[in-house]
Amino acid sequence: MKVTIDGQTIDVEPGTTVLQAARMIGGSCVPPTMCYYSKLKNTGGNCRCCLVEVSKGSDKDPRPMPKLQPSCKTAVQDGMEVKSATSERAVKARKAITEMLLINHPLDCPVCDQAGECDLQNLAYNNKENRSRFVEQKVTFSTEDLGPYISLNKNRCIICYRCVKLADQLTPERIHGVMNRGDHAEISTYIKNSIDNEMSGNMIDVCPVGALTDKTARFDSRVWFYKPYNAHRSCTKCAGKATVWMFGDHIRRVTGRKDENREIEDYICNECRFDHKDPKDWVIEGPRKFEKFSVINVNNYTKPVKKVDLNMGELPEKGRPQDREKISMKSFPYDAEELKELNS
Ligand code: SF4
Ligand code: FES
Repeated sequence: MKVTIDGQTIDVEPGTTVLQAARMIGGSCVPPTMCYYSKLKNTGGNCRCCLVEVSKGSDKDPRPMPKLQPSCKTAVQDGMEVKSATSERAVKARKAITEMLLINHPLDCPVCDQAGECDLQNLAYNNKENRSRFVEQKVTFSTEDLGPYISLNKNRCIICYRCVKLADQLTPERIHGVMNRGDHAEISTYIKNSIDNEMSGNMIDVCPVGALTDKTARFDSRVWFYKPYNAHRSCTKCAGKATVWMFGDHIRRVTGRKDENREIEDYICNECRFDHKDPKDWVIEGPRKFEKFSVINVNNYTKPVKKVDLNMGELPEKGRPQDREKISMKSFPYDAEELKELNS
């Protein structure tokens, strides 16, 4: 089947979704995702971040779809034409969704362990929209203890259901779900019952925000100060392939490896994640790939750093005229020369 997304045509198998086709094409046409997770079954359709405009339904029925469609749940039709980043409507709707997700989400990035690798933070940042019209009180929940490894902050949860699906598909004891609906919805006590499982730590990795974080590395450092390396060890419970986050010679935390869509490649067991923080336990393969837009790039150590020549002459002291103009009041003179000119 042929599908065209933002002017780029690709051949895909029947049953492929618009999101999967966009990911095959790559680049700016790939819609953001907060709930879809390709490594878990039956995810998506909850956050509406991946909306696209279908400008032509198919060759058979070329009528456009009147409403924006969630690309993670929309199957490709032969001859379908889709606008993603090129659709003003879709981009506007994604911005509105981001604003809605941030209604109850606390803006506590400065103290949140997820900052720097938070999908919601990236989404808000990429949308270039920092305005909130919400003046009412945010819904807040009391804290809940999930044992020694995982910290749950329900205030940050965006009800994406990823951890629910993971617990369902990876931990046999899951009997939990999202309690209540609408603005009373909360991820709650049921989740506790799957926390004792050997694979439960993967919930931390699939959580797109800082609702589920690693208690063993909590408040240890900002992620961009770590150096992440791909590493492996022989493990009988999982593939043993992980990313170890190092600070100097010490491993401060261990996570699953993520791909270019920020999704886990291989789930890892709790033993690898929480009990092996000694570098001798791991075979270090090399630096981990970076997400292009991640704040972690600030500490990018994979490329040689260019020497910066600082011109400490007149320019840094005075600044460029165009910059000075931007930050100054028009009528306010910069220096004595200009004052003279103004008064003449
Ligand atoms: S805790 Fe995280 S993964 Fe679970 S529903 Fe909330 S945001 Fe999603
Ligand atoms: S990623 Fe498609 S609806 Fe959430």
